[in-house]
Amino acid sequence: MRRSTTLRRRAVLAAVPVAAAALLGAGGPAAPGTVGAPGAGDPYFPLSGNGGYHVRHYDLSLRYDTGSRHLDGTAVLSADATQPLTRFDLDLEGMSVTGVTVERTPAAFRREGQELVVTPRHAVRAGHPFRIAVAYQGTPGPVTDPDGSPDGWIPTDDGAFVAGEPQGAMTWFPADAHPKDKSSYDFTLTVPQGRTAVANGVLLSQRTAHGWTTFRWRESRPMAAYLATATIGTFQVQRSTTPDGIQVYNAVDPREARAAAPVLKQLPSVLAWESKLFGPYPYRAAGAIVDHAPNVGYELETQTRPLYDSAPDLRTLVHESAHQWFGDSVSLTAWKDIWLNEGFATYAEWLYAEQHGGDSAQKTFDALYATPADNAMWAYPPGDPGNDRNIFGTPVYTRGAMTLHELRRAVGDRDFFRILRAWAADHRDGHGTTAQFTKLAEQVSGKRLDTLFHTWLFTKTKPNSA
Ligand code: ARG
Ligand code: ZN
Repeated sequence: MRRSTTLRRRAVLAAVPVAAAALLGAGGPAAPGTVGAPGAGDPYFPLSGNGGYHVRHYDLSLRYDTGSRHLDGTAVLSADATQPLTRFDLDLEGMSVTGVTVERTPAAFRREGQELVVTPRHAVRAGHPFRIAVAYQGTPGPVTDPDGSPDGWIPTDDGAFVAGEPQGAMTWFPADAHPKDKSSYDFTLTVPQGRTAVANGVLLSQRTAHGWTTFRWRESRPMAAYLATATIGTFQVQRSTTPDGIQVYNAVDPREARAAAPVLKQLPSVLAWESKLFGPYPYRAAGAIVDHAPNVGYELETQTRPLYDSAPDLRTLVHESAHQWFGDSVSLTAWKDIWLNEGFATYAEWLYAEQHGGDSAQKTFDALYATPADNAMWAYPPGDPGNDRNIFGTPVYTRGAMTLHELRRAVGDRDFFRILRAWAADHRDGHGTTAQFTKLAEQVSGKRLDTLFHTWLFTKTKPNSA
């Protein structure tokens, strides 16, 4: 008897580290409702984002040696717990974490794939703000997206092209990396003297000492993690202020400067034209980063300051600028709604052509509609791309834009532009869903539009012409 009691006692004592391990996530059930989910619940990217908290602000301090490609980083996150948290996740792929604190107290952590699992010493209480600090270092590199493109921190010959859509933010900072969660950002970027580090928002200061230059950037409007950048290179910088008081900062790789100059000159007038159509430009800062990054193959609407892998043409500038309203200010709630970004930015291109001496949107529509039914353009519906490989495919861009054109024909120009402006205004700095958009269109126009949206967004084959 006695003996077995002792044994049981021992067993209980021995179980303590096991329990601690369970708390660290090594297995075993944790108390329900106290562990933050490893993902935000998006079926396309199940581990992007996390549950249990919202990040109000990121303060990222990075030092990047463009020679050795080594990065030293500290990320301080100001978060709000939406549930009690004995444990929570951040998204981080690669890099090595050297320390984590929660409320300035060292926390236990472990890595599990793209998850950084943090167990604070004291549970975080629901509804409370808390501070997370992560120190990390290593040689960052991109992840490969389901569609085969590089995404995240992409080294170049003179720095790095840093673009995070849809899942690359986690390659360079620990994040709640789903567009459901938007935050303000401070960036302190230190790079070898002679290189320029460009992030979002406004440049607060630039100081050089001992062969290193530190750039401090601030984006104070809410921003999805994938829209953050810290692009580094040898850049020519031009600064100006538009008649509307928007601060423009362009950073251009000298190899792209000649081709980029005439297009970048148009940025203020493009933003003014889009403001007329879509409502006030959502930000105080604007600009462009034109890198020379032949290994990338796309551009990104990084908030306030789109990022191009080579000198853009005017059409591309119009597209990325339109995303500042549609995609950046009004963000996705789920990746399947991606046409709300890409269809809208593509339709902005058509409108620009129409109003600047090019083809009418109707003519563009007609030419595309003539594409045979077995063309890849009709391979899947834009409102339901079906999987993570399809989100940047032609149906999303082209048939997404065609959907807006059909809406415009159904409700007339006056209501169509009212709908676009109301969409941008009602969801400014926030989020939207396809269902909310179609409801808004019906409210503004007073028309039933369910058949139109169903046909253009959700039927699996080429729609019959209206
Ligand atoms: N949103 C970008 C555009 O303006 C496309 C990004 C593509 N990203 C990728 N990883 N393939 O169209
Ligand atoms: Zn786009």
